[in-house]
Amino acid sequence: MTKRIVLSSDHAAIDLRQAIAAHITVKGWEAVDIGPTTKESTHYPIHGKAAAEMVAAGDCDLGIIVCGTGQGIMMAANKVAGIRCGVCSDTFSAEMIRAHNNANMLALGARVLGEGLALEVVDAFLEAEFEGGRHATRVDMIED
Ligand code: RB5
Repeated sequence: MTKRIVLSSDHAAIDLRQAIAAHITVKGWEAVDIGPTTKESTHYPIHGKAAAEMVAAGDCDLGIIVCGTGQGIMMAANKVAGIRCGVCSDTFSAEMIRAHNNANMLALGARVLGEGLALEVVDAFLEAEFEGGRHATRVDMIED
């Protein structure tokens, strides 16, 4: 079944977020882009929380959130119960946070990564699968 991917960002990352939405749509994922749409200054915790709540509620399977560094919006998302979000700037980490940590959200820094690498990081995250087994024990410990 097609996975629904929620996307949000702050003002620093609108262009990259929209590029990711277009890219993942072409790849066959369902992009649920919740904005914002203008570059007016805003606050990343609002947008990280909004996306995280959609994942936590089961409205979307996974989330991709973007701010200048990825760090602030990741911190906000991880405050929502059930969210496991990491900032990745390389494809290995993006694959591993799914395979080993069962991350359900990916955070990216629009001022850190060029668009080409960012899209490869997104692909690595979305195409990876959680391996379960000993990793499930550890993820359960995080949730506890
Ligand atoms: C906004 O200027 C910037 O602080 C924000 O996008 C992000 O980098 C915070 O973590």
